[in-house]
Amino acid sequence: MSNMPKWLSNARFYEIYPQSFYDTNGDGIGDLNGITAKLDYVKQLGFNALWLNPCFVSPFKDAGYDVADYYKIAPRYGTNEDMYRLVSEAHARDMHVILDLVPGHTSDKCKWFRQSCKPTRNVYSDRYIWSKCVWDRPQGYSWVAGGADRDGCYMLNFFNSQPALNYGFNEITDASWQMSYTDERVQGTLNEMMNVMRYWLDRGVDGFRVDMADSLVKNDEDKTATASLWRKVRTMLDEEYPEAVIVSEWCNAPRSINKAGFHCDFILNHWYKLGHYAFRYVDDKGVNKSYFCKTSHVSAKDMLEKYLDELKQTEGNGYISLISGNHDTERISYTLDESELRLAYTLLLTLPGVPFFYYGDEIAMRYIPQPSKEGGFHRTGTRTPMQWDKTQQNLGFSTAERRKLYLDVDRLDDAPCAKQQMEDPSSLWNLVRTLNGIRQSHVDLQSDAQLKVLHCSSDSVLCYQRGGNIGVVFNPTDEQRTLPLTMGDKLLEIGKATTDGNTTILAPQTAVIFKLK
Ligand code: GLC
Ligand code: CA
Repeated sequence: MSNMPKWLSNARFYEIYPQSFYDTNGDGIGDLNGITAKLDYVKQLGFNALWLNPCFVSPFKDAGYDVADYYKIAPRYGTNEDMYRLVSEAHARDMHVILDLVPGHTSDKCKWFRQSCKPTRNVYSDRYIWSKCVWDRPQGYSWVAGGADRDGCYMLNFFNSQPALNYGFNEITDASWQMSYTDERVQGTLNEMMNVMRYWLDRGVDGFRVDMADSLVKNDEDKTATASLWRKVRTMLDEEYPEAVIVSEWCNAPRSINKAGFHCDFILNHWYKLGHYAFRYVDDKGVNKSYFCKTSHVSAKDMLEKYLDELKQTEGNGYISLISGNHDTERISYTLDESELRLAYTLLLTLPGVPFFYYGDEIAMRYIPQPSKEGGFHRTGTRTPMQWDKTQQNLGFSTAERRKLYLDVDRLDDAPCAKQQMEDPSSLWNLVRTLNGIRQSHVDLQSDAQLKVLHCSSDSVLCYQRGGNIGVVFNPTDEQRTLPLTMGDKLLEIGKATTDGNTTILAPQTAVIFKLK
């Protein structure tokens, strides 16, 4: 792809929720030095890029997505210098690091917001969206009335503690308080966000995952105005930081990639998307219909249709990223058992685009329902500490007393742990490592290589070609399937595939990566 950071074409991301990865100073919460200490682990597992959830100063009403200071690492994670060291240690291992940029809102504790709340005019007065007066709570969006001395209500972007930054409006319905997104008074917001980006890029960071990227301009139904702002950001990056990457949480690849200029867009778990159909589709009656569920599932065609359409539309412009899950979803092991995960991960690491894995999914960490922490609510069960080693206190996450842990570790006797799985050649951990290794060494399996569907029918079997030379076939069912196919050398075989003449028999729950004949 032209005009693209080159490293993306073979990037495989590992997402780290810093609170829960590794605690090096025994205070019960993960830290940046802990991430640095585990870079070799991530590298050994075969990932070559990290996405870190927000690590900035914050009151943590939304786990750090409520930023109070974009230029400073939260003391509980360490210092800015710790971040610079993390990044340079990652680079020394040929790894890249992207941070989480939250452009749509700040914490209500952010000093920009405190200034904006003042009744007297100042440079931050228009940095947030204020209604005409405190008695005027406009229709649509959410508002806080009486939260400041300033005579107006402020608009929220997510939780009550997250006031919306002002990027203006596309359609103006009341000019007494709405500003156009082209109005001079709102230009400071995007300029400041670009300065935040420059600040971290100048210190070695390789790019950003952009939170709620589609949320900037209000009354922007088809998102054209929001996209035009991101185009400016992309132009700035192309000129100043051509190897920096922006990955959007948008979930509409044609808009994000073609219009807004993002390099990648996530496929989240929205019901009509690949990630949902493939891994997490549970119907109203509680029946698991995920494609990779062995007993009952959607057809490969239904799973792929929308994805193939978006892939075609965005071809040559950017990448669609499939994720194993993230800090907002139930863990993938909630809907798929270990044998199903083996097939699911084979899909994830053999499709085009840039794959993202959530920490702990390599060992099938459990989703553990529990009381909310830091605005997590149902998401808290996905955010528990990484399980390093069965034989160590707190499974090796921290030396703190149990009651001091950020969240408790999985206390089940059979809680999966990294060290034990690393020692077992047949473990899920070792499968993930093998898949990463195969992708790493075959350009045909990387981000840019073409995808051509060879077999996708109602019998649930899926077979596709990547690049000129490689095929991938799946039988996720618990029954044998036969299809007209001959295989060359097998690069990976899960289950069993037997070729007889022009026919291949796939045992239940089989996935094979093979050379085409
Ligand atoms: C995104 C984040 C989520 C956060 C929200 C508000 O969806 O992934 O964790 O709560 O935005 O910033
Ligand atoms: Ca710590």
